[in-house]
Amino acid sequence: MAREKLQTAAARLLRWYGENARDFPWRVGPRARAAGERPDPFHVLLSEVMLQQTTVATVAPRYVRFVARWPHAAALAATPPEELLAEWAGLGYYARARNLHACAVAIVERHAGVVPDTEDQLRALPGIGPYTAAAIAAIAYDRRALAIDGNVERVAARYFAIDAPLPAAKPLISARLDEIWPERRAGEFAEELMDLGAGVCTPRRPDCPRCPLRDDCAGAASGDPAALPRRAPKRERPLRRGAALALFDERGRVLLERRPSRGLLGGMLALPGTVWEPGEPDVDGWAAIAAPVGRVSHVFTHFRLDLDVHLGAAAPTPGEEWADPLTVRLPTVMRKALDLALAARDGGRRSAFPKMRVRKRS
Ligand code: ADE
Repeated sequence: MAREKLQTAAARLLRWYGENARDFPWRVGPRARAAGERPDPFHVLLSEVMLQQTTVATVAPRYVRFVARWPHAAALAATPPEELLAEWAGLGYYARARNLHACAVAIVERHAGVVPDTEDQLRALPGIGPYTAAAIAAIAYDRRALAIDGNVERVAARYFAIDAPLPAAKPLISARLDEIWPERRAGEFAEELMDLGAGVCTPRRPDCPRCPLRDDCAGAASGDPAALPRRAPKRERPLRRGAALALFDERGRVLLERRPSRGLLGGMLALPGTVWEPGEPDVDGWAAIAAPVGRVSHVFTHFRLDLDVHLGAAAPTPGEEWADPLTVRLPTVMRKALDLALAARDGGRRSAFPKMRVRKRS
């Protein structure tokens, strides 16, 4: 493809973006950028970490709370990590929150509180991988860094008709994008491709008539752009099983425990329960204090989980963590389990309360 032609593609994309840019609380849009406004690099970093495995619709309101609470790295670094984890509840992939705290500390210690502006320095920070480093360098500092997320990958695979399956096609996609990524307004170019992928060059039904790249899109010319990018077949996630205890005290509070700081849901509050393994969960002895009320399912990155929920009553003992079940912030799988227990408790299934009934009589 002739270089001039590709450059006109970038120009068409820029024009399209001027009229179709999505509005996000972390974004400085095309008009404000043209007027000289630049995003706050820490806000860009925060949004990119939040967006790593979570959709823009979920992130937007949560991001607004985050920046209001921690407007700069020093504020976040000075906060106990548990507070950050509590604010993160429900967003999933909790290692991100722990790394984000470590990242803020590193920015304060190594860079005097200022987010660094090169991909290399950014990648040296906790929780910042190649994509996130490129996105921050490009969007916050207008560096010519190739920020290639899933949307951008799809647009490129189609535009260049790259037939090799993902993830093996990644280096090729990167090399082809390198040919057209502009020096000027490099950050906006990333945002343009993201928006095109999200709104026009969508996974199942790309809206080619509305696409500014249609005229020279090799995927559109092939007649079946939706077939791209091809993907190597995924392996099915294995199933694990577990059981969780929702124990309420007389005041209606629920017993929680903090999970170990490393590993899955590390450092988060959770219902107590069994380990999560392939076989039947071991609930020996639970029948004395609780009864099963149902099952919730949740999909983690590497496995699916079927979690049996047992409902019961207990009296608090010193050192335990008891919380208001309606307002406590929990990881999604635990919120699902607790909601199921609350529905069973409040749904008149009194037989599920062996101990509570005993205590009420006394
Ligand atoms: N996904 C990842 N980063 C994004 C951004 N800056 N804007 C929109 N979607 C994104």
